[in-house]
Amino acid sequence: MSQAQIIDGKIMAERLREAAAQEVARLKAEHGLQPGLAVVLVGEDPASQVYVRSKGEHSKAAGMHSVTHRLPADVGQAELLALVDQLNKDPAIHGVLVQLPLPKGLDEKAVIEAIDPAKDVDGLHVVNAGRLAQGLPSLVPCTPLGCMIMLRETLGDLTGKRAVVVGRSVLVGKPIAQLLLQADCTVTIAHSRTQDLPAVCREADILVAAVGRPQMIKADWIKPGATVIDVGINRVPFSDPVKAAQGKTKLVGDVAYKQALAVAGHITPVPGGVGLMTVACLLQNTVTAAKRIAG
Ligand code: GUN
Repeated sequence: MSQAQIIDGKIMAERLREAAAQEVARLKAEHGLQPGLAVVLVGEDPASQVYVRSKGEHSKAAGMHSVTHRLPADVGQAELLALVDQLNKDPAIHGVLVQLPLPKGLDEKAVIEAIDPAKDVDGLHVVNAGRLAQGLPSLVPCTPLGCMIMLRETLGDLTGKRAVVVGRSVLVGKPIAQLLLQADCTVTIAHSRTQDLPAVCREADILVAAVGRPQMIKADWIKPGATVIDVGINRVPFSDPVKAAQGKTKLVGDVAYKQALAVAGHITPVPGGVGLMTVACLLQNTVTAAKRIAG
């Protein structure tokens, strides 16, 4: 049986990070401009801590000015908004990212809307989401941007391809659908209420899984030869009962990967796929924001 080609996020992300580092070095040398990124983490969600550490380390490694603000889970809305305001006004900071989800009791939307759209390197502010929907230059959410880079490197021109996005989140589903549409794909956004989801998925030349449900997309939902982009990062117990009893966990995507390998043409692994691209694209967005702000 033929085996899908694995889309290597590690290599692609490395290349993007290297390009970002080179651009940072050039901006410093030629313009005295050091792109600056501020990441805000509220509370102690273990997954968020891992992501935030990675964002801090990679931005420093790329030569950026990088600061991480850690606030307790019981921080007040006003205090969080005051920090965002301070970062908006800080000339050394060109990118402001508030890690999501925020602890209960905080108004996530209000916090995102408080970020200066020019510094919104997550691309989540309504101004950036609206500009993306209208096809205007904007800061594009990092994960969707990473998915598009993977698709372009794998397939080249995407014109006319049927793309199905499973998931309609503001962070991934909606923006990636916009980007696929801009690339002249025929786009369907499917979700938990979609009737006969397997049949809808089977129409896809490009299948993007962004539902956050471990291994939900089965091999027989995939059209033979399709390109599968798995955005899910789910922590689950090991299937081996001994390891599971020891409380050991592993990361899996939204796609039943091992079975899908026999059907798909190309597929992203989890881990080692889209997740690595998210941080690399954050570096790219921070460089873009710094250049636009500096004029
Ligand atoms: N939580 C999970 N992914 C992301 C992301 O891309 N940005 C932010 N801010 N929070 C997240």
